[in-house]
Amino acid sequence: MQTADLYRWFASYEARRKSPCFEAWATGVAEDPEVLAMIDALPPRQRQPNLLFAAARFVGVEPGPFEEFRTAVVERWDEVSDITALRRTQTNEVGRCATLLPALATIPGPISLIEVGASAGLCLYPDRLAYRYGTGPILAPDTEDEPLLLDCDVDGPVPVPDALPEVVWRAGIDLNPLDVRDPDDVRWLETLVWPEQQHRLARLRAAVEIARADPPNLVAGDLVAALPQLVASASEGSTVVVFHSAVLNYVTPEVRSEFIALVDALGCRWLSNEGPGVIEFSTATLPPSPDPTTGLFTVALDGTPLAYADPHGSSLHWFDHRHGPPPDESGRQR
Ligand SMILES: C[S@@+](CC[C@H](N)C(=O)[O-])C[C@H]1O[C@@H](n2cnc3c(N)ncnc32)[C@H](O)[C@@H]1O
Repeated sequence: MQTADLYRWFASYEARRKSPCFEAWATGVAEDPEVLAMIDALPPRQRQPNLLFAAARFVGVEPGPFEEFRTAVVERWDEVSDITALRRTQTNEVGRCATLLPALATIPGPISLIEVGASAGLCLYPDRLAYRYGTGPILAPDTEDEPLLLDCDVDGPVPVPDALPEVVWRAGIDLNPLDVRDPDDVRWLETLVWPEQQHRLARLRAAVEIARADPPNLVAGDLVAALPQLVASASEGSTVVVFHSAVLNYVTPEVRSEFIALVDALGCRWLSNEGPGVIEFSTATLPPSPDPTTGLFTVALDGTPLAYADPHGSSLHWFDHRHGPPPDESGRQR
């Protein structure tokens, strides 16, 4: 795709309705030959609108009209392009725990949790968060501090759990783990939240505090290469659950297949939450999306699709399987 088309597409399909600022920036870039030429001089990976806009904000470009963005970015181009080379889009969205929890809670514990593509590991603490599905009761851990509350709209027969899973061990893998104790990494995560999404920023900051209190064990590596050793380290007598959100789109279809076969060969339960078309499910098992414009994720357990989920976790649309997810007959335990 030509860079102008990429930015036009981003304005129309990614930013519209979600970020007037990014919609204006992307539309402006798409019509600006000088800025387009600067972007085209970057390697293809660094041309992504989301990465470029986050890099601009990271070096201090404030959300605002396109003309102000343009002036600031042209002036500070060396700094902006350096950040696009150094950093990657590693948005860590703790809200996804709300759409993962009902499926996770059907797995008999105790659980060892392994997240591949964990970013800073903020989704590794589903048992330390509070949840409210629709207008239902709040499900919360037994703590003195007020836990971070995730609200999630629901439709369909969501098996809302009445207890949090027992997580006895947790770890993650990422090509480039971010460190919740490193102020620059945290500022990068904050910058990846779009300008108008203040509720997501507040949620991110609360999740960082949870992770800082007990920093996650994150291994730097590839999700296929690093998985066997991590599974081998998991707690004896626990059920190992390998999960991921918004990750398999970063690897080729061949690597996806290799990863899926590996999780099976290692005897782990597999919980996935990925965008449309990333995992090939039998189309016969997928009902029509309730909101085709949003690009809802599909939540699946052991390869069986269970629900559509808002990409940031604000809604869960459970499929009408009548009996919910298939029972765990695998007895997979370490
Ligand atoms: C969009 S972020 C999602 C982070 C987290 N799963 C979440 O839902 O908040 C994708 C993450 O996957 C990581 N990633 C991409 N390809 C990977 C690979 N082959 N092995 C390990 N991690 C990978 C990236 O570094 C990035 O941190």
